[in-house]
Amino acid sequence: MAMVAPSLLSADFTNFAAALDFLEQAGADMVHCDVMDGSFVPNISFGQPMIAALRKKTKLPLDVHLMVQEPGRYVGEFAAAGADIITVHAEACTHLHRTLQQIKETGTKAGVALNPATPLSVLEYVMDYVDLILCMSVNPGFGGQKFIPAVFEKVRKAAKMILASKRDILLEVDGGVNEENAPELRKAGATLLVAGNAVFKNADSAAAIRHIRGDSLL
Ligand code: DX5
Ligand code: ZN
Repeated sequence: MAMVAPSLLSADFTNFAAALDFLEQAGADMVHCDVMDGSFVPNISFGQPMIAALRKKTKLPLDVHLMVQEPGRYVGEFAAAGADIITVHAEACTHLHRTLQQIKETGTKAGVALNPATPLSVLEYVMDYVDLILCMSVNPGFGGQKFIPAVFEKVRKAAKMILASKRDILLEVDGGVNEENAPELRKAGATLLVAGNAVFKNADSAAAIRHIRGDSLL
């Protein structure tokens, strides 16, 4: 079993309220919110006002994935908007340690995302500040991309690092996650799976959530 955080990036942008209602009914564990700045990644999505608006419409935890250059500039605003988890990219932070401290000071959980080419070793000296490790399984910027299989091994290694840290750290995988690769990701140690297209572009979105989480294994 793993938790599932469907990504709103693949939902109907004219009706996020309906997407949130659906996710609550379908038993999603969190809502994954992809914030893109058009600089760190080529795409622009939405920002703090959207997180504040979503916060008013749902009690589900908001898992905010900042694909933003120097995100330390904004973590206070995203925390105030109602984020439950703020995840920053190691590649986007000149001072990752400081940025993680900034997030922790807001009382929000702190995550670090790693692009597919970024080694886990960047986490070695900040593990004490990390509540979540996000292994990107596509190059960030767009939904609906193909899963990069090298990430299975990375997830296994990250799971070992987490075990060695003796801390309670979520292990999230994001990008191209679907009903086919979810079992192996769960086996590798992933505890939180993001799914955009596999949920929202599916004829049976609720079943997709159950299958990605591994409910049938109960
Ligand atoms: C990619 C985003 C992902 C993406 C997931 O830049 O961070 O969260 O929207 O969508 P799928 O599951 O369709 O790859
Ligand atoms: Zn994401």
